[in-house]
Amino acid sequence: MLKSSRLLLRALEPGDLNDTYLSWLNDPAVNRYLETRFLPQTLEALQTYWQAHRDDPSSPWFAICLAGQERHIGNIKLGPIQWLHRRADLSLFIGERGCWGQGYASEAIALVRDWAFLELDLQKLNAGIYAGNFGSRRAFEKCGFGLEGTLREEVVTSGQRQDVWRLGMPRSYWTPTA
Ligand SMILES: CC(C)(COP(=O)(O)OP(=O)(O)OC[C@H]1O[C@@H](n2cnc3c(N)ncnc32)[C@H](O)[C@@H]1OP(=O)(O)O)[C@@H](O)C(=O)NCCC(=O)NCCS
Repeated sequence: MLKSSRLLLRALEPGDLNDTYLSWLNDPAVNRYLETRFLPQTLEALQTYWQAHRDDPSSPWFAICLAGQERHIGNIKLGPIQWLHRRADLSLFIGERGCWGQGYASEAIALVRDWAFLELDLQKLNAGIYAGNFGSRRAFEKCGFGLEGTLREEVVTSGQRQDVWRLGMPRSYWTPTA
């Protein structure tokens, strides 16, 4: 469990796999830049995915909750962890659109970044972001990530090929806040 003043990151529980979570994955504004949009999303599919990934030590996966209310607003995942290189990808979504623009994504990224560097002794974090997802890029940049390259025409969005930005953060560039 990871905590900041406003957020609590905890393991996903069966009770999280509900219609609200499903509605996030089926919301075109939320799934526009997510790979999940290619799969039919149902409660059964959520259960199957959760069963398969809940105890995967190479991809720790957290529910992002508002501290106090314990309201689940999105998810964040670190992985797959490449232990030989001590690096991992970091990805997230805030499914509750009413919670966008309040700094929650940046706060969740910072929490997992600090945990990955301090507790897991990872040395490098990366993020792949569809070009044009300026909100996501900004949230990672606020946490010290920098653009390391552009994968040209890497993915398909609405029938068109699109670039992907690769952002990264070496641990040596990180200044612990606590
Ligand atoms: C992208 C996403 C994670 C951002 O979450 P968030 O909680 O709103 O992010 P934050 O509030 O921490 O930070 C967003 C920053 O980007 C800025 N921003 C948001 N939209 C922007 C845009 N279109 N252009 C430029 N900057 C933008 C915000 O102003 C904020 O910066 P600031 O604090 O300097 O003002 C969220 O919108 C989301 O989950 N979207 C759908 C799924 C997704 O895209 N996930 C990421 C996949 S890589």
